[in-house]
Amino acid sequence: MSPRSFSQWMGDIQQRTEIALDQALPSADIAPERLHQAMRYAVLGGGKRVRPLLVHAAGQLAQADAARLDRIACALELIHAYSLVHDDMPCMDDDALRRGKPTVHVEYDEATALLVGDALQTLAFQHIADDTVCDDPAQQVAMIRQLAVASGSRGMAGGQAIDLASVGLELSLTELEFMHIHKTGALIRASIALGAQCGHPLGDEAMASLDHVGKVIGLLFQIVDDILDAEADTATLGKTAGKDAANDKPTYVSLLGTSRARELAEEMCQSALDSLATFGNNAQRLSELTRFIVRRQF
Ligand code: IPE
Ligand code: IPE
Ligand code: MG
Ligand code: MG
Ligand code: MG
Repeated sequence: MSPRSFSQWMGDIQQRTEIALDQALPSADIAPERLHQAMRYAVLGGGKRVRPLLVHAAGQLAQADAARLDRIACALELIHAYSLVHDDMPCMDDDALRRGKPTVHVEYDEATALLVGDALQTLAFQHIADDTVCDDPAQQVAMIRQLAVASGSRGMAGGQAIDLASVGLELSLTELEFMHIHKTGALIRASIALGAQCGHPLGDEAMASLDHVGKVIGLLFQIVDDILDAEADTATLGKTAGKDAANDKPTYVSLLGTSRARELAEEMCQSALDSLATFGNNAQRLSELTRFIVRRQF
């Protein structure tokens, strides 16, 4: 058992992620200054850093080197931040508030927000290619590919396309699950898989089990996001509450109601914890983080 509490561990990872992101991002005084300022505005000083936390927690399963995990964690957070910038644009969810601040297109302008997303996405791949993240170079290329698939039309971007095409529709539970597994689940799943691959090989069976855990956590993360959108307030969330209903989005709440959605998230949490139990003490942080993701208030 680690002597550090979960909240201390979480604070440490959030702090080292902030430093790593600050170093990975171009300085605001390098041309084009306005774009670099906006990229830093989008990424730094906010967010729970759940994907970096997942990378580090999964890395613990494979005794991975912390500097390598920082690199993967940054790449994931850069892609996530880009997805938020675009998600908030008027052509998508049209949100004015993110992480307690005006969204990038409001603070800057729409063209800048578009370019911030483009540049953050490519920076993520540059960053992961810039240094060694695992001992086998062929595996490193495979990891970069895995991040690309998770981010693209078969992953997050594809899920976002389904989200936009679903406005005003009542989806079946299967369709809703498919959308959530892609728009949010893909990057969460990749965070866990890539974090684990930074360390000692865990073997095919363990990686398959971990992938199942990643899929479950990814889905329950978005179910909780749907619940919070319906139940929490704007000040707590740091983003506009009630936006899903206002935008007529199909969610777990619109389909099942908050109390059934909450039960489902708890059931999924338990299923992930059961799978993680087979990893013993090495899965301590990942188990704690899974509970945090379900019980979080924002
Ligand atoms: C919000 O993600 C968008 C979704 C994918 C549901 P987070 O809840 O992780 O947002 P931040 O990074 O903490 O702001
Ligand atoms: C966003 O889902 C998923 C992304 C890929 C960004 P939401 O649209 O529900 O995220 P929030 O609620 O705006 O953070
Ligand atoms: Mg959205
Ligand atoms: Mg949104
Ligand atoms: Mg939401």
